[in-house]
Amino acid sequence: MDPSRDNLVIRFTTFWWAVGTFLIFALLLAVIWLFNYSDPTTLEDEAAKPRYVTKAKVDVAQAANLSAEAIEAAIPVVGKQLAASKPVAVEVPAQIVPGSDTAKKLAAAPAVDTKAVDTPAVADAPIDPAVMASGKVQFMVCAACHGQNGEGSPIAPPIAGSEWVMGPISNLIRIQLRGLQGPIMVKGTEYNIPGGMAAHAYQTDEQIAAVLTYVRNSFGNKASAVKAEQVAALRSEVGKPQVSAAELTKP
Ligand code: HEC
Repeated sequence: MDPSRDNLVIRFTTFWWAVGTFLIFALLLAVIWLFNYSDPTTLEDEAAKPRYVTKAKVDVAQAANLSAEAIEAAIPVVGKQLAASKPVAVEVPAQIVPGSDTAKKLAAAPAVDTKAVDTPAVADAPIDPAVMASGKVQFMVCAACHGQNGEGSPIAPPIAGSEWVMGPISNLIRIQLRGLQGPIMVKGTEYNIPGGMAAHAYQTDEQIAAVLTYVRNSFGNKASAVKAEQVAALRSEVGKPQVSAAELTKP
């Protein structure tokens, strides 16, 4: 080794130069690392992020809501207001409120002309099996009161063998569209069931025609088919009070 180098002072400064150089590189590395640093995020963190956002939104919304106490305090007030308020009749064509202006106007309307509907159809015209099938489905509603085989029940007169069922078509259509209020004589027995029969005007013209064709040609009954146009011709009956036997054409 060069003896001039074996000098304490030189060795001392060289040592510090080395340390300094090392530190400069360390600092450079630190700066590079700092600039490239990004938060290590896991998949779970990514998945959770939307939940935190939603939770924050929900918290804000809940804070803005009425408290449970405020709602509880409001219930009796709202209840009192409801109890004190008069019911308002809301009318849709299929549902006319009894006693409303529309109901009164309908009740005062002149009696419908049923002649066109009742002019004898060709009684022997073959009955469409598709119409009978559709009528059979529709009859499930009727069967609840009139019996599976139209035999009648304590809450409704019989359909089987009824002179009304095989009588004028307009009667049957009007009973479907308005319902029926007793008393009514069926097969020699007087029926006057409390409440009578409700209107079944929710059925389409085709459904009413089908169920009436079905009852007129089932359970031993035999009569002409009912056409949807005949039902349509009497649609103006909907909303009028339950029809009474006195208003119907004698079978
Ligand atoms: C909730 C029970 C009930 C249902 C459902 C019902 N009816 Fe009636 N129906 C009655 C009552 C009750 C009478 C007799 C009215 C009275 O006594 O005041 C009657 C009378 C009749 C009559 C005239 C009397 C007779 O027996 O011939 C016909 C026709 C009739 N209903 C057909 C039908 C048809 C068709 C359906 C199904 C679309 C039907 N009803 C659904 C209760 C019902």
